[in-house]
Amino acid sequence: MTLINENYEIKREIAKRRTFAIISHPDAGKTTLTEKLLLFGGAIQQAGAVKSRKSRKNVTSDFLSIEQERGISVSTSIMNFNYKNYEINLLDTPGHRDFSEDTYRVLTAVDCAVMIIDNAKGVEPQTKKLMEVCRMRNTPIITFINKLDKEGMDPLDIFADIEDKLQIECTPLTWPIGMGKRFKGVYNIDKKELGLFSPGYTPQNGDGIIINDLNDYALDRELKNQADKLRDDINLIQGAAEPFDIDLFLKGTHTPVFFGSAINNFGVREMLDAFILIAPQPGYRKTLTRDVFPEEPYLSGFVFKIQANMDPAHRDRIAFFRICSGKFKKGMKVKHHRIEKDIIISNATIFMAQERKNITHAYPGDIIGIYNHGTIKIGDTFTEKEPLKFVGIPSFAPEHFRRVILKNPMKMKSFLKGLTQLAEEGAIQVFRPIINNDYILGAVGTLQFDVTIARLKNEYNVDAEYEPIDLCVARWITCDNQNKLKDFKKQNSSSIAMDSEGWITFLTTSEYQLGFAVKAWPDVEFHKTREYN
Ligand code: G4P
Repeated sequence: MTLINENYEIKREIAKRRTFAIISHPDAGKTTLTEKLLLFGGAIQQAGAVKSRKSRKNVTSDFLSIEQERGISVSTSIMNFNYKNYEINLLDTPGHRDFSEDTYRVLTAVDCAVMIIDNAKGVEPQTKKLMEVCRMRNTPIITFINKLDKEGMDPLDIFADIEDKLQIECTPLTWPIGMGKRFKGVYNIDKKELGLFSPGYTPQNGDGIIINDLNDYALDRELKNQADKLRDDINLIQGAAEPFDIDLFLKGTHTPVFFGSAINNFGVREMLDAFILIAPQPGYRKTLTRDVFPEEPYLSGFVFKIQANMDPAHRDRIAFFRICSGKFKKGMKVKHHRIEKDIIISNATIFMAQERKNITHAYPGDIIGIYNHGTIKIGDTFTEKEPLKFVGIPSFAPEHFRRVILKNPMKMKSFLKGLTQLAEEGAIQVFRPIINNDYILGAVGTLQFDVTIARLKNEYNVDAEYEPIDLCVARWITCDNQNKLKDFKKQNSSSIAMDSEGWITFLTTSEYQLGFAVKAWPDVEFHKTREYN
C-alpha cells in the first residue's frame, strides 16, 4: 500500500471510531444498558448474555472465584461492536466488588463517557468519583437517566442534583412524559418526535411520531391529559436550559441528557444514534514532548491496564494498549522506550463481546491486548519511531490500606519480587515508611487486597497476611524548594513513605489531618494522582 493510500485509510478509520466507557453507581443499570448496546451492534444475539456472566460472579473472595471472576470480566472488559458503520469500542469500568484503580484508569483511555443515573437515586457516590476522573481530561459526558418505568425524582430535580454535585450543565435532548405507571414515553426535543413507551416492546425505526409544534393535536391524541404537562415542561426547559452546543459538550462543561428505561430497551436507540454523531472520534493525546495526532503515519500508544492470569495454566499477562496514532500491523516492531528495547508484536488480541480473537491490524481509538511476560508496566509508551512518553495515565491515591506481613522470612526475595511486579501491573500500591521496615499496601477497592494475597501465594509461593493499619488518606508530595521539602519530611517523618517508584508520599489517618498539613505547609504540593515513571 502506498503512503498516500495508507494515510487516507487511517483517516477514514479514525472518523469511524468511537471509544467510550459507561460510568455509573452499582445497580444504576450499566450491565443492562451494555447489553442493549451490544444487541443493537449485533455483537450478541440474545438478551441475557452479559447479565448471566455478571450473575456468575459470587460473593466469596477465595482465590478460585477471583480467578474465575477475572476470567469472566476480562472477556467483557473491552467490547467492540459495529453500529451504522461506526466501530465502537466500549471499555468496561469494573464496579461492585472489583472496583479498583483499573476502573479509574480505564477512563484515561476513552474519548467519551456515558453516565447512567438512576431516576430514583440521582447522583450517587461512585458516579461522583468516576466523574472526577473524567474531569482530569475534560472527557465529554452523555447522560442517560434510567428506570423511567419506575417512580423517581422530578427530572428538573435530577438536573439540579447533577449540576450541583458534578458541576456540569445539563442540556436535555429528550424529555420524559410522566414516570412509573404514568410513563408514556419520551419527546425528542431535537427531532420534534414523540416516542411512545410500551413495556417490553423495543421501539423500531419509524415508530416515532413527528409533530409540527407543541400545539400539534397529535400530542393530545397520544398523551391525553399528559399533553399539557409536556407542553409546560418543554416551554420551561427551553426558557431555562441552554440549547445543546457541541463545543461545550466536547469541552466537558455541558452534558446532553437522554431519558429512558434500559431494561425495556426504551430511549437507548435515541441515545446511541446521537452518540455516534456527537461523541468525538479519537483526538490528540499529550506526551512529555508534544501532542500526538491520530492521523500521524507512525504507530504510537500507551498501556493503561494489565490483566494477569487470564489463563491460569499459562500465567499469561495481557497488556491493554490504546492506539493513539498510525496503524498497527501484526508482527510489527515497536520501541519499548522505558526499557529501550525493540519488541515485536506478533500476537495482538482484540476483544469482542464474547470472545478474544487475533487481529492483523488496528487503528487509533482501538485497544489491543499484547501478551507480556513481565516487561510491560502501566504507563508504558510504545512507538514505531520517535521516543515519546504519553502522559495522563496516572496512579490514583489509594483509599484503603493494610500492613502486609510475610509469614516465612526465608521467602523475602520472592515476596519483594511479587510486590514489585504487582505494583508495576497496577494491581496494588506498595509504600515503605521512612521510619520503619513495614510494607504498607494501598488500594482503591478492597478486593485488590484479596487478589494480592492470593497471587503472592499462587504465583510467588509466598504466604502473607494483613494487619489493619489506621490510615485512609495518601497524597504524593512535591515541592520546588528542596529545603522546605526536607523540613516537611523531617517534621512529618512518621507520616512519610516512599512508593514503589520512589515518589514521596504523605500517609495519614483522616482528611482533617490532611487539611491541617496542607494549611501548615503552603509551599508543599499534595497530589491525588501521579504519573508513572
Ligand atoms: P449495574 O450493572 O449498573 O450494577 O446494574 P444492572 O444493569 O445490573 O441493573 C441493576 C438492576 O436494575 C437490575 O435489577 C436491573 O434489571 C434493573 N434495571 C436496569 N434497568 C432498568 C430499568 O430501566 N427499569 C427498571 N425498573 N429496572 C432496571 P435486579 O433486580 O438487580 O436484577 P435482575 O433480577 O433484574 O437481573
